[in-house]
Amino acid sequence: MSKSKYQEVLSRIPYGVSVVTVGVGGIENGLAVSWLSQVSFDPPMLMFSIDKGHYSTDLLEDNPVFVVNLLGEDETKIAAHFARQSMAGDDKIDRFPWHAAESGCAILDSALAYFDCEVTARHEAGDHWIIVGEVKDAGVLNDGKPLTSLHGLHYTR
Ligand SMILES: Cc1cc2nc3c(=O)[nH]c(=O)nc-3n(C[C@H](O)[C@H](O)[C@H](O)COP(=O)(O)O)c2cc1C
Repeated sequence: MSKSKYQEVLSRIPYGVSVVTVGVGGIENGLAVSWLSQVSFDPPMLMFSIDKGHYSTDLLEDNPVFVVNLLGEDETKIAAHFARQSMAGDDKIDRFPWHAAESGCAILDSALAYFDCEVTARHEAGDHWIIVGEVKDAGVLNDGKPLTSLHGLHYTR
């Protein structure tokens, strides 16, 4: 099947848009993520899929912790900012107010809610890694409706 056909049909799947933050101790970074799912109640676990080639993927390998920040419907600019490719030395994270979770990863102050996670497994899946994380802490920060693919945001290549 052609890549364009696959991506066209993929864009029909409704999903939320989050910023997953990675890296601790001065090398914090984040990326827009929509390939994310909850996978277990007990222990509480989430998973998301990350391109093997992202800078964030290297940071996650060095420090196997991450925070999922659920964005609100008025946060398309934040999603677009974190969808920009970065590299070592960029300070993508400091554009928006944040504070450190227990893991050290960034919680965006404007997010609707967050999950602070420790990586428990990593599975190879084509050009991505499926990252499974145990939720160590979570919280609701702000009221609001979620940012979703219905706002025209899609993960394409
Ligand atoms: C709506 C949207 C959803 C995205 N979802 C994912 C995703 O689930 N996994 C992924 O690896 N990249 C995803 N991306 C792409 C990354 O956000 C983008 O490549 C980013 O530049 C990577 O950041 P980095 O270069 O700082 O590591 C998405 C982009 C957009 C616009």
